Amino acid sequence: MAYETITVEKRGGIAIVTLNRPKALNALNDELTAELVAAFADIEVDEEIGCTVLTGSEKAFAAGADIKMMQSKSYMDVYKGDLFGGFDRIAAHPKPIIAAVAGYALGGGCELAMMCDFILAADTAKFGQPEIQLGVMPGIGGTQRLTRFIGKSKAMEMCLTGRMMDAAEAERSGLVSRVIPAGELLDEAIKAAEKIAGMSQTAVAMTKETINRSYETTLAEGIRFERRVFFAMFATEDQKEGMEAFVEKRSPRFRNR
Ligand code: CAA
Repeated sequence: MAYETITVEKRGGIAIVTLNRPKALNALNDELTAELVAAFADIEVDEEIGCTVLTGSEKAFAAGADIKMMQSKSYMDVYKGDLFGGFDRIAAHPKPIIAAVAGYALGGGCELAMMCDFILAADTAKFGQPEIQLGVMPGIGGTQRLTRFIGKSKAMEMCLTGRMMDAAEAERSGLVSRVIPAGELLDEAIKAAEKIAGMSQTAVAMTKETINRSYETTLAEGIRFERRVFFAMFATEDQKEGMEAFVEKRSPRFRNR
């Protein structure tokens, strides 16, 4: 499908989705939101795709929700239109998404990165929730996800002052999994995505679901859930193949069953 505000490239077992509104630093407007939702719906049912890299430009992953679009909206406009509600579908996407972030990831951009399964940051990345400076607050999950990533004190400081965090601080704080020189970011993200896409996709989906469960439940319930899913994996062909391949000292040939 042809998109106006994003590009989608399918490369072997992975997809690369690039935010592409350079004149607005990839600010998230209705069109971009709808296109992202459509692209991920397409990837979800594409059996060849095992993992997606979501990225932006060198200057900005995304500088937030589109302020010019929101400026004149009323309460009823955003309530009836369920402004940015589409992002819940991306957060619920069952396959892994790696955010490859260079430059600004602010407001909705930071929130979009946090919706992904992990964030690889270029050394140029800057994260922030500056909405308070616009007289509002984060509205696509920032108050909740940022707090879970970096703890209350830092999240409170960032959301109340609007200050940005550089890549080194983001790594120290647990917001990103790794910092990579900017010129190597996309290659590294693609390498990680290809590695994931080469695993049993059944095991990948179950692992993602189970880690995400840790955000929604108590430790005891989470461990019980993990045990049940782990047991269920013994009903898959990929468990037999993976373990047999190890014993036979060869690479596994997973069939995602
Ligand atoms: N919405 C709409 N347009 C934006 C934008 C945004 N979030 N961020 C940048 N732009 C536009 C600018 O208006 C500018 O357009 P023009 O050339 O037409 O003037 C263009 O992108 C380039 O931006 P700048 O000239 O400002 O670039 P800079 O390098 O001087 O500054 C920046 C970069 C610090 C990121 C600055 O653009 C900025 O502060 N942007 C806004 C960041 C922000 O407040 N984000 C939060 C948005 S609210 C939100 O996200 C709510 C939510 O949680 C749902």
